[in-house]
Amino acid sequence: ALISMRQMLDHAAEFGYGVPAFNVNNLEQIRAIMQAADQTDSPVIVQASAGARTYAGAPFLRHLIQAAVEEFPHIPVCMHQDHGSSPTVCQRSIQLGFSSVMMDGSLGEDGKTPMSYDYNVAVTKRVVEMAHGCGVSVEGELGVLGSLETGQAGEEDGVGAEGTLSMDQMLTDPEEAADFVKQTGVDALAIACGTSHGAYKFTRPPTDDILAVDRIKEIHKRIPDTHLVMHGSSSVPQEWLAIINEFGGEIPETYGVPVEQIVEGIKHGVRKVNIDTDLRLASTGAIRRFLVQNPSEFDPRKYFKASMQAMQEICVARYEAFGTAGNA
Ligand code: G3H
Ligand code: 13P
Ligand code: NA
Ligand code: ZN
Repeated sequence: ALISMRQMLDHAAEFGYGVPAFNVNNLEQIRAIMQAADQTDSPVIVQASAGARTYAGAPFLRHLIQAAVEEFPHIPVCMHQDHGSSPTVCQRSIQLGFSSVMMDGSLGEDGKTPMSYDYNVAVTKRVVEMAHGCGVSVEGELGVLGSLETGQAGEEDGVGAEGTLSMDQMLTDPEEAADFVKQTGVDALAIACGTSHGAYKFTRPPTDDILAVDRIKEIHKRIPDTHLVMHGSSSVPQEWLAIINEFGGEIPETYGVPVEQIVEGIKHGVRKVNIDTDLRLASTGAIRRFLVQNPSEFDPRKYFKASMQAMQEICVARYEAFGTAGNA
């Protein structure tokens, strides 16, 4: 059944687990996520970005997600809009039937320019008023996502600030978070704690203090009833990078957020964990390998099946690691 993010994450908070929020753009990603959830008895958050809407079109996305709800009626599903760039974008998603929206007022409508605190409060508050009137949950974002190692936002063509960021910007301030929640009434808050979007988060194997876990703890202490969201939570599996490069790809050395550190965050209030890149890498690796190993195959269902299997394995691993499994 389709449920709101608030309902889903309140349960997660009560029982101390996290829920991965996987980005979806097509049938294969949605099937992989749902099959993994079915296999592990997990609740699901699927999220669509502006890029996803451009790629698939809003009606296709909407019906793909609704098809998932129909095929797996025993699995709770939250249909979330990722990184809304304006109240208008959020309004449109609410109208389309999304059960949760993100108003990302930390950046401007271009998805690149860091905005003032007052702007962020004003646009987020507007979305909360609109969404709550329709039973739809709202995620806000405070702070600017950036890698504590590189000072970069990471994403080139997606959502991400331009230029090098200061330590101050890259760590959400706990007092400001408390004021933000009080003024806007958001259900969930995306915080900056050292992660960044995309595959290029860290240039070296991450040390076990690569995330600002102390900061997560301080924020959770100030706003215990607001669900914390960790964006940029892909782990960039080294085994998939190796497969991509073995079968003709060229991806330079790079590292993501270790799963154990995300689990540490979950112990301190992180309830929604955004993952996109890991499924992209697994899918690409599986397709590259399949095509090289089966050069005479040309039925797309064959290589998409390999892609789905690879994505499903990642989803199962995250549902198990985050404690989501068994909570559908
Ligand atoms: O926030 C970024 C997500 O990974 C979505 O990426 O805008 O390329 O769909 P996208
Ligand atoms: P990754 O690029 O680390 O998968 O993060 C995705 C994300 O935060 C989507 O909002
Ligand atoms: Na989001
Ligand atoms: Zn994000």
